[in-house]
Amino acid sequence: MAEQETKIYRGLDGVVVDETAVSKVMPETNSLTYRGYAVQDLAANCRFEEVAYLIWFGELPTQTHLDAFIKKERGYRSLSDDLLAAIRLYPKDSHPMDTIRTSVSFLGMEDPEAENNDPAINQDKAIKLFARIPTAVAADYRCRKGLDPIPPDPSLGFAENFFHMCFGEVPEPEVIRCFDISMTLYAEHSFNASTFASRVITSTLSDMYSAVTGAIGALKGPLHGGANEAVMHMLLEIGSSNAAQQWIDNALANKGVVMGFGHRVYKNGDSRVPTMHDAFVDMAKIKDGEDWVRTEKIVADTMLREKDIHPNLDYPAGPAYYLMGFDIDLFTPIFVVSRITGWSAHVMEQLAANRLIRPLSAYNGQAQRKVPAIDKR
Ligand code: COA
Repeated sequence: MAEQETKIYRGLDGVVVDETAVSKVMPETNSLTYRGYAVQDLAANCRFEEVAYLIWFGELPTQTHLDAFIKKERGYRSLSDDLLAAIRLYPKDSHPMDTIRTSVSFLGMEDPEAENNDPAINQDKAIKLFARIPTAVAADYRCRKGLDPIPPDPSLGFAENFFHMCFGEVPEPEVIRCFDISMTLYAEHSFNASTFASRVITSTLSDMYSAVTGAIGALKGPLHGGANEAVMHMLLEIGSSNAAQQWIDNALANKGVVMGFGHRVYKNGDSRVPTMHDAFVDMAKIKDGEDWVRTEKIVADTMLREKDIHPNLDYPAGPAYYLMGFDIDLFTPIFVVSRITGWSAHVMEQLAANRLIRPLSAYNGQAQRKVPAIDKR
């Protein structure tokens, strides 16, 4: 009886489970800050390397700090021959989220300090993961196409190096800028599902690699990070702006979920969207993709008019990555390349004031009963 009266917060909707100093989500103003800086301000004025530093260390770097951090990150980018050999063996039709999840787990097995949760060691692990995840994503991307991995180039910045490792060339500065902006916008978002998963794992005093492996599993789902891929599949299904109005009218008439719209916390818009939308429009101008912008607008206008539902970050990010030339199944791994900053910051924050995360449940199964003899079952 008592169990039936228990208030249940399905999906932990509205539940505050802990404090964080990493980022602040403000649904009342639809805004987001990392360590006190508005995310749009960071996207406009900082490179992603500076934002990563801010997320971990709480302050933007001085030039001296930035130089030292960049040197370290560039020095950590290479993968071992063993991991590269393992990547070559991954099934070619597996999803790249599964392969990066496995590569992160492998990196943990290779790190003799994996189990050491000393703060300085963990900070170093975060930088190693930040440096090596892009290399692992790019190596797998090429291997599945039957191409050789391209080693990281320590003379290149974080974003430039990722394109170099995927495609063997560095694109126009506008493309790099758009990618870099997306990295900043995707970096951190308080207690979203994957970050919370990483904190749950960390709360058992497990290691950072295990926490990040679990977070990647959570991010993969289409209700979370997988939405940026789903958005592009949807836009391709629509085909062109001429077909967009009919398509969205049908989707709404059939009460379908339109990918890239809605958010558990933001109900009146997502502050990351205008910045990413502008970057997408820039991309469309350079890459002859203006019909995608028209299609995107028709769907978004209709969602707002008919359902009062706003787009989330995945909506402009999906087609932006498509125009940059990435395969669709690489979009969520690219989200991982960015979100490793937020996940690792939360792992360290959880450890600094740890309490095992262990919620309760209200039982709704059979009343207690006795095991009958086998011939009476
Ligand atoms: N398309 C159509 N309707 C949507 C919608 C969408 N993308 N998102 C929410 N809605 C509708 C729901 O059907 C519901 O309608 P109802 O009250 O008539 O039943 C209402 O809006 C409230 O939605 P709800 O499912 O309660 O919100 P939530 O907080 O549980 O869900 C998401 C949030 C993200 C899971 C949900 O918006 C969604 O599935 N979006 C698509 C996937 C996506 O883009 N994910 C990335 C998130 S960053």
